[in-house]
Amino acid sequence: MSRFNPKALYQLVRSLQAQTMLDAMQYSRSVRARNRRFGLKKARGRFTSLGKVTSIDKRAQGAVIHCENGHIELHFLSAEILRVRVRQDGEFRPPFSYAVERIDFPAPTVLDGEDKQTFSARTDQLVCRVLKNTAGLRFETPDGIVISEDDGGMTWREREVRWTRKLPTDEACYGLGERAHALNLRGKRWELWNTDPMPYQRGADPIYASIPFYLGVRADVAHGILWDNPARGYVDLGAEKSDRMTFGAEDNELRFYIFAGPTPQNVLKNYTALTGHMPLPPMWALGYHQSRWGYATEEDFRKLVQEFRQRRLPCDVLYFDIDYMDGYRCFTWDRKRFAKMPTLLADLARQGFKSVAILDPGIKVDPHYPIDEEGQREDMFLKYPDGTRVVAPVWPGKCHFPDFTSAPVRAWWAGHVMTLAQAGFAGFWNDMNEPALIARKQDKTLADYVQHDWEGEGKTHVAGGHNVYGMLMARATREGLQKYRPDKRVFTLTRAAHAGAQRYTSSWTGDNVSTWDHLRLSISMALNMGLSGLPFTGPDVGGFAGSADGELLTRWMQLGCMLPYFRSHTMKGMPHQEPWSFGEKYERIIRCALEMRYQFLPYVYSVFVQCAQDGTPIIRPLFWVDPEDKDLYSVDDEFMLGDSVLVAPVLDQGADQRKVYLPHGVWYEYGTGKLIDGAQYITAQAPLDTLPLYIRAGHTLPMWPTMQFVGERPLEESRLRVYAGSGDTSVYEDAGEGLDYQKGDFRWSYFNCRFLPNGQFAIQWRRAGKYEPPYQQIRVEVVGIPSEPEMVEIDGQAAPIWYFENGVVEFLTKSFSEARITGRSHRSEKAQQTILRPPKK
Ligand code: GLC
Repeated sequence: MSRFNPKALYQLVRSLQAQTMLDAMQYSRSVRARNRRFGLKKARGRFTSLGKVTSIDKRAQGAVIHCENGHIELHFLSAEILRVRVRQDGEFRPPFSYAVERIDFPAPTVLDGEDKQTFSARTDQLVCRVLKNTAGLRFETPDGIVISEDDGGMTWREREVRWTRKLPTDEACYGLGERAHALNLRGKRWELWNTDPMPYQRGADPIYASIPFYLGVRADVAHGILWDNPARGYVDLGAEKSDRMTFGAEDNELRFYIFAGPTPQNVLKNYTALTGHMPLPPMWALGYHQSRWGYATEEDFRKLVQEFRQRRLPCDVLYFDIDYMDGYRCFTWDRKRFAKMPTLLADLARQGFKSVAILDPGIKVDPHYPIDEEGQREDMFLKYPDGTRVVAPVWPGKCHFPDFTSAPVRAWWAGHVMTLAQAGFAGFWNDMNEPALIARKQDKTLADYVQHDWEGEGKTHVAGGHNVYGMLMARATREGLQKYRPDKRVFTLTRAAHAGAQRYTSSWTGDNVSTWDHLRLSISMALNMGLSGLPFTGPDVGGFAGSADGELLTRWMQLGCMLPYFRSHTMKGMPHQEPWSFGEKYERIIRCALEMRYQFLPYVYSVFVQCAQDGTPIIRPLFWVDPEDKDLYSVDDEFMLGDSVLVAPVLDQGADQRKVYLPHGVWYEYGTGKLIDGAQYITAQAPLDTLPLYIRAGHTLPMWPTMQFVGERPLEESRLRVYAGSGDTSVYEDAGEGLDYQKGDFRWSYFNCRFLPNGQFAIQWRRAGKYEPPYQQIRVEVVGIPSEPEMVEIDGQAAPIWYFENGVVEFLTKSFSEARITGRSHRSEKAQQTILRPPKK
């Protein structure tokens, strides 16, 4: 694919775009001088430990444990969430954290116990034991399975803090946000420091979004840990010593939350109960997004729209990268290249396109630029300890940086977002918000000693400003859109993030490369983001740097159409990557992938809703289905989209088949309707036009007809594709936009499928909720009926008309409570087995 070194080319293009490299050189000189004045010293020497327990104060929801050298607070927020803090001063005032959204859970009953060696506090879900001799902690399930055991425990030196626990040999390691790595993160040390790697390769670390949340999975128990510390830090997952795990941070109180499993699903449920849920995005944000750094004129966009619509390639969203701005000044647009921006955006909207504009945090230092002038006047920008404003280079050259850790600054930013939204932008894309500078490698972000307001608490960049910067920029951007359109849902996109960012924004995995390895990486990266609580994510489809070819782009589109966030994006100077760029042969197949995304929308939407309600990731690794099966812990070349769909994209150049593992149960091959037993590897035939997909027997997929964009026309007919077998499916519907769903305007449908003892196949449909979907007719397609049935009944009445072809029974109905298909001698043996055979455990 890449005929040239993408990294070198990338750096060249970037530097050519930056206003002046002179600014970067000047900056580096000024940093060196300033470092001498303000530079923070790294902590040295030995770590101090807590020493022996000296006394214990029992509290309603836990205890304060006094030790020789410090104090531990154990506080059960709920039966399944325990907060642990260590302070030398023993003053446990309510802590502030950007990661945590709520702590007001119903107070659990906490019982304590004590013997000579240990003190314990327990709920009916989680037990914490403190060894009196060392103040070491041990967490257990109520039936005695050890979840975690200290090995070195909680220690500190100067401002630096650390917690070390045993890493059992059978524990698989996930989470930690965005990691350019295979799914299981065990065996390496991972940095907690959001960084722009320009671009990344497999193994590069850290990159844009580090999340200090860890998910540990073993066959007998899963647990989660939120290291609630935004300072620069790291997580060592057995790198230094293979059976030891350490969290470390350069500053702040030692504080973490532990989430009892026993399942990964329950861990994510509790983690997102604490750090917040993804709000429901507008339905259009689940469609296809087209982007390229290089669309730079009104003409480019008009042409794009014409191509998409004429070629019948579905698309909902177009992106305005930095070239729309006037000299990279945020909240402006270039009046020559976009003479009538509002008219253009309205025209795009009329053709069904939403426009999303990029916003970078750097505000150009320029006396003739009102935003900069106002920001200076109103004291919105970050400063050094001596009170001088930070000035550092990004695209426009020298920039000021808003301090997003200050509420008035966020409100100021939100106000400008509102004004820009008035031009007709439907959403915003927050980039370079690690924050990233265009400067020497060692100066790629702001200096450690830059001062942040931190809601009045005051913190340095290294201690707290840096890692939350991107998330708080996204928060301010979201607030702007919310204020401007209070009755609409918000779409924003971010590059950098921190724990809890899911409350504000979706994300993408930054500047990847057009290679087959990056295609593969996009799965493990998106999966781990979901396991870190940030579910609405996806890669630059086709790759950002380097050049794709038709085959790679096609395979990436096939994968992308099954990922939560589906956007193609590429870099300036690289070959084009729109669906038609490599000729008719590829365009035809890419069209199928785009159409498939739109057909699957009501299913994907239901999966999003489940995630918005309880944090269950939208896409899930195979072990999610069966956490006891250790063989699944490292599988990351296939995944589940929701409960019903297994996606196994082709990831190798030239391949026309691949091995697929199907977990226990019975599956249908999507394309052929063939029934296949699970708990085995199969070989999927996958010529270029085929994406191997498998649907669980007994599940029901709600589907829409192909459309060119969400809301293209009123939906007259919906489709229910029922896969014969035994199982349940929940489907959610609402208006797809607006907030009426929060007032109860939604509908849940529960489908229960089973074979009755008399051989009939029955589908039961129960509904709850007042939302009335627009379609009048439902086309029910039952897949997996081996021979022509005798009769199809709808609510006890023979259906007047139905069809049978290729194992699919099809009938039309307005609605039903129960439909039954009566066979001749047609009971599908395998589907029968589904009901008769209990799932393998
Ligand atoms: C950064 C972003 C990329 C964007 C470019 C120009 O590299 O990651 O997506 O196109 O900046 O704004």
